[in-house]
Amino acid sequence: MNLIDGKATAAEIKREIAEEVAQIKAAGGKTPHLAAVLVGHDGGSETYVANKVRSCEEVGFHSTLIRYEEDVTEEELLACVERLNNDPDIDGFIVQLPLPKHIREERITEAIDYRKDVDGFHPVNVGRMSLGLPCFLSATPAGIVELLKRYDIETRGKHCVVLGRSNIVGKPVSMLMMQKGVPGDCTVTVCHSRTANIKEICLQADIIIAALGVPEFLKGDMVKEGAVVIDVGTTRVPSDKTKSGFKLTGDVSFEEVAPKCSWITPVPGGVGPMTIVSLMRNTLLAGKKAIYR
Ligand code: GUN
Repeated sequence: MNLIDGKATAAEIKREIAEEVAQIKAAGGKTPHLAAVLVGHDGGSETYVANKVRSCEEVGFHSTLIRYEEDVTEEELLACVERLNNDPDIDGFIVQLPLPKHIREERITEAIDYRKDVDGFHPVNVGRMSLGLPCFLSATPAGIVELLKRYDIETRGKHCVVLGRSNIVGKPVSMLMMQKGVPGDCTVTVCHSRTANIKEICLQADIIIAALGVPEFLKGDMVKEGAVVIDVGTTRVPSDKTKSGFKLTGDVSFEEVAPKCSWITPVPGGVGPMTIVSLMRNTLLAGKKAIYR
């Protein structure tokens, strides 16, 4: 079993981005500027957004955090999106999800100028991704593909089973894995909560990408010998063994599955850190106007 070290890979990519930012600044170019909008006080979202802001500082970007209370109206949030769309200093921005129930997420996502949509959630970016056109790739799928690339893991002709059909991971990553090229060229099966015979399907997989959000769903007897397993799960499970009172738990029962794998990502330290650097990369591309004018 070999461990895919997302933390080390992410640190390496951050250094690459920081170097490029330093060159841009030295040449008198504009410092990339990311804004993040956070609504409410959800513990997970607070942590993710704090990490994103810290990563911006580490690579030399400017960052702005805009906070709203849980009772913000949809109209207020749309007005904020509009301001950010029109602010020439902001190269890209994200609205952290999930949003409170009274706000329609798709209205917010669609209101974001796709040229500043560094999360890659806007229908224009999702559509362009599915057509294989230049776009902002959403951060988690981009991070997964980058890990496979940097670890030189063969994907051509392999059977990739994606567990989960979410808009932000399952659907886009299945699209990327089936696309022509490297990584890609997989035969992809997408499984979800209504799939019959999920164990039998997983047993046929050369690559499993687990993104269901069900802690330790994938067990040892569901994985064939030599499989590559990518664990996207990050559920906060209460624990009395940690200072924070919870333990970040993946969708893979690591102890059971790892001995059977050729490659596996741990949680934490696998896909998670890659997600943030993908956002940094998109912000750099936005700052350079490398994808859209
Ligand atoms: N919530 C969980 N993942 C993400 C993400 O990648 N971006 C945003 N905006 N919200 C999220």
